[in-house]
Amino acid sequence: MGVKKHAGAAAQEMPVPSETEVAKRVEALLGRMSLEEKVGQLTQVGAAAFAHGPLPEDVIRKGGAGSILWLNDTKQFNALQKIAVEESPSKIPLLFALDVIHGYHTIFPVPLAMASSWDPSVAERSQAVAAKEARAAGLHWTFGPMLDIARDARWGRIVEGAGEDPCLGAAMAAAQVRGFQGPYLGAPDHVVACAKHFAGYGAADGGRDYDPVYLPEGQLRNVYFPPFEAAVRAGVGTFMSAYMDLNDVPASGNRFLLREVLRGEWGFKGFVVSDAFAIGNLVIQGFARDGREAAFRALSAGLNMDMASSTYLQHLVGLVKDGTLQVADIEAMVRPILAIKVQMGLFEHPYIDESKLAQVIALPEHKKEARLAAQRSMVLLRNEGKLLPLSKSLKNVAVIGPLADSKEATEGSWMVFGHNPAAVTVLEGIRAKLPGAKVTYAPGPEIRRDLASWFEADTISGGKNAPQTPEQAETAFKTAVATARKAEVVVMVLGENADMSGEAASRASLDLPGRQEELLEAVAALGKPVVLVLLNGRPLSITWATENVPAILEAWEPGSEGGHAVADILFGEVNPGGKLPVSFPRKGSHAPLYYARNLTHSPEGSITYNPRYWDGLPTPLYPFGFGLSYTTFSITNLKVASPQVKVGSSVEVTADVTNTGSVLGDEVVQLYIHQKAGSDSRPKRELKGFERLTLKPGETKTVTFHLGPAELGYWSTSAGKRVQDAEAFDIWVGADSLATLHADLTVVR
Ligand code: NOJ
Repeated sequence: MGVKKHAGAAAQEMPVPSETEVAKRVEALLGRMSLEEKVGQLTQVGAAAFAHGPLPEDVIRKGGAGSILWLNDTKQFNALQKIAVEESPSKIPLLFALDVIHGYHTIFPVPLAMASSWDPSVAERSQAVAAKEARAAGLHWTFGPMLDIARDARWGRIVEGAGEDPCLGAAMAAAQVRGFQGPYLGAPDHVVACAKHFAGYGAADGGRDYDPVYLPEGQLRNVYFPPFEAAVRAGVGTFMSAYMDLNDVPASGNRFLLREVLRGEWGFKGFVVSDAFAIGNLVIQGFARDGREAAFRALSAGLNMDMASSTYLQHLVGLVKDGTLQVADIEAMVRPILAIKVQMGLFEHPYIDESKLAQVIALPEHKKEARLAAQRSMVLLRNEGKLLPLSKSLKNVAVIGPLADSKEATEGSWMVFGHNPAAVTVLEGIRAKLPGAKVTYAPGPEIRRDLASWFEADTISGGKNAPQTPEQAETAFKTAVATARKAEVVVMVLGENADMSGEAASRASLDLPGRQEELLEAVAALGKPVVLVLLNGRPLSITWATENVPAILEAWEPGSEGGHAVADILFGEVNPGGKLPVSFPRKGSHAPLYYARNLTHSPEGSITYNPRYWDGLPTPLYPFGFGLSYTTFSITNLKVASPQVKVGSSVEVTADVTNTGSVLGDEVVQLYIHQKAGSDSRPKRELKGFERLTLKPGETKTVTFHLGPAELGYWSTSAGKRVQDAEAFDIWVGADSLATLHADLTVVR
């Protein structure tokens, strides 16, 4: 038994129960619960109007709910909890859950941006703040982190994850779990995390959200599983199953995923919740004949909790009564849910102090963390003629574009229920930085989705306004160009609205939506220095801008302090050091595009070389791992401690990185490998280590990596198992996925 503190409302010093003690308490609870109540614990009830279910109060009173979602109201939490702990038969407290994805009140950069920091501590600290605020509001459980590898920029939910790479994804996964949960489940000021969406969701056919996924086992295990396994290693309390069919078996009825891999191989001890309505949807997907069969198949596959579909509530009791399922099957699913409630201290402290939230969200360090996270997430894509940083003595700056003053676009894709976007916009950030200057602003024509999202009514205020007429758009266009014409320097803030990425927000093109590129071309034609700041939740095909605009800063959706962070970078108070966690394709039709592809029989330079498409090279516009700085670096002196390493042992790889420029800056040193032959063909490059370092001008540091069986082994399709081949490897260390500094390594038996 430890002497850690519990996460209860009063956060009193109290011992955290040991595993055996938790198990004892869970058995005691199970002993006094009816079958109906046990099924109730497997049921998560939606409190929002669109949940279409019975009123949560009535369900809770009967012991029919283990958890509530889609509610964000501290008073209501206490009121519902009171019903659970005073009126329900076994008085078991509720778990309150919500999507707190990149901040609760203080909004952090979207997860794709956090991954661009290549600094797991950014993700950990950001999610710790999010957890603290959410916990103070009365939430116990967040539906994050999202760990889906995404290699298709058309897929809208690419914004919610760490991008295309399993190594970076696994590091960000573990960091986010630590941030949300703290040092142990039930730590004060923290919440339970949920690794989602298990598994393969990011590989939707054509990038179309919810479409089926076909992934061979080798791809699943080598690419799509590592972030999830890292979350289990980091102690994540819960998992969420994905919506879509994986190789023709819906992820929410998928025994291979939920039983064989997650519990059998990885030893996961927590519980799995379905995605919203996913168990009921098994009927719509054509996997189950009716709700009864859906409940049976989901439970048998290993799914503990039914999010919002009430299918378990309607059918599990009957399935036990007619002998299809045993009580023991239900109890096995209930145990980890009760265990987490015990670990979270909910039996001792079911209520939340309603005065706490106001104090917590006012903490100045939260804003500071959000600004730092935004600064560290931004990626400088281009800086011809050292246009950036701009001088603070500029007198007349125009800030142009539909996102320049958009709080929604600055905060980004996932907003907590009831949250009003209050971010500092880029316009506000620049105005704050240049108090003595004239900073003019014109949005230009508005941008909006061609097809509205079903979320729009709930979340995106812009969607409620009538669309601009073509005449209004034309006037806005002309005003923007006229405003730019009068300025010394123009900052264009373009990209995508918050509702253009995220769930149900896939698109076929990666172009700047609406008339933005036309506006950019018209402004660039004025011959003034133009800086392009991108606010977006996915890679965009910015080929024209890359050829014609001297400075481009990828700011993503940077959160509450985003506008300040952009201004900090534009005016040189902060030197950008982020790197891309995804490849930027030249065109939407080049997706999926990722660096870790296998070689083909016709590589560049060979006589049979085929450029893949005859209408334009599909090489990335900006490669994975790429990002510039206001200083320069050199990476040299690559050393592999020994040219040979035995299967099962590790070898040290070192390289020196020097700041060769004149300002302080950050470099992310990256190590890639390629196995030259073996049981299977292997990707031509795979990231196996990285480190972000800060260096003073002239300073040199040595970076050390370790390559062992975890890095050099893989799951082989030919062998049908994980192998480590005794083969030759290329090793590259450098500043992006095109690194050229090379060494050899041979693995021997
Ligand atoms: C559906 C989304 O796919 C999932 O990510 C989210 O956590 C749930 N809805 C709950 O809001």
